Amino acid sequence: MAPTVAAEKITYGDLYSRWEQGNWRATEIDFSVDREQWHRDLDEIQRRSALWTYSMFFHGEDSVTDNLSPFIDAAPREEHKYFLATQQADEARHAVLFARFMDEVVGAGSDTATALARTDTHLTWGFRHVFARLDTIASELRRDRSLPKLAQAITLYHLVVEATLAQPGQHFIEESLRQRGLLPGLREGIAHVSRDEQRHIAFGVKMLSELVREDPGCVTAIGDLLRELLPYTTSVFVPPGLDERYVTSFGFTLEQVHTRGAESLDGRLRAAGIDPTTLRVGLPFDLPPEERARRGLTLVRAGYLGERLDGVTPDAEATALLFDGLRRTVDATQAPGATVQWDFTDAEPWHLRLDGEAASVGPGRLEHPDLVLRCRFEDWLDIVAGRVDPWRALLRGRIRPRGKLRMLVRAPKLFA
Ligand SMILES: [Fe+2]
Ligand SMILES: [Fe+2]
Repeated sequence: MAPTVAAEKITYGDLYSRWEQGNWRATEIDFSVDREQWHRDLDEIQRRSALWTYSMFFHGEDSVTDNLSPFIDAAPREEHKYFLATQQADEARHAVLFARFMDEVVGAGSDTATALARTDTHLTWGFRHVFARLDTIASELRRDRSLPKLAQAITLYHLVVEATLAQPGQHFIEESLRQRGLLPGLREGIAHVSRDEQRHIAFGVKMLSELVREDPGCVTAIGDLLRELLPYTTSVFVPPGLDERYVTSFGFTLEQVHTRGAESLDGRLRAAGIDPTTLRVGLPFDLPPEERARRGLTLVRAGYLGERLDGVTPDAEATALLFDGLRRTVDATQAPGATVQWDFTDAEPWHLRLDGEAASVGPGRLEHPDLVLRCRFEDWLDIVAGRVDPWRALLRGRIRPRGKLRMLVRAPKLFA
């Protein structure tokens, strides 16, 4: 894997000195105009939207502050440790900025734990899953300082949380508030946060490029992590009740935010010297980011991904996208020539065929499938969306397999 110009161009020394030059004070931001505007100038839906988005930033900054220390211990070089120590100070400052906003503008309380508890209700299902995984990966990193584990942790922290989720959010918040002349204090704070995040992401990309060069096992580990996270990351920025006014009331669309996130992940992986099309994540990295965003949102709007909704009915386009995503995660070399049939009790059947190097999927029945999975369509969705553990679903009889059951034993390798 050739080192990329993007990650090579910048040095750890540059990143550190940019931190010294960029220092700012979260305690000196003036929120007095924000407080007046919050009650006077924002309409009801804008206030709800802002509270929803900023609560996720508040909790996110709190979580990344708490979870960075094992990264410092596991980082192999002194330059990594010094930079990560500056980053931890930044994250604390970001958390303080949002804590002040929640206290002085929203009135959620001056005690941070209280304000966190009072804003907890705004966190989305996807958000909770992504940050729960950040907690567990930080614990794993305390016990396992191997390069693949560190590469997974950096991927989750710097590429998923910071580059894919936070940075697009900051961009749209800053832009929409600027156009409307709203919340000048928060805007000033977020401009600082954005600059800090750019530095953090640049560090993450650089470090990841070194890790994948030193240990090729890191690429497999990164693919495994992104695949596991995909149903959750797609569901983070999904408004309550799928009410898109939470986004459009500030002048942008879910498509724009998700496209920017898709673009960011792809660009950062490539800058780290990783070809995302080889990761078997399930995302069509061969298609433009707009299309990746559109597909993710189609699955969310159909109720296929995200929090469980009652009464989801099969939708032809969403089902085709779901199986296309599955096809992209399959390692066809694990069982060449094998076929799998989904026999849904309440929806049309689908199948998967491993043709040598690649996999293909389609609706309908095969003549002699090697493995048949019989279940309700919704039960299958629960597995794909990461709501239910697949082995648990098998044990409980929600999925009834027949045929060559040894393929199930190999399923973790096959479907990863
Ligand atoms: Fe931050
Ligand atoms: Fe950060």
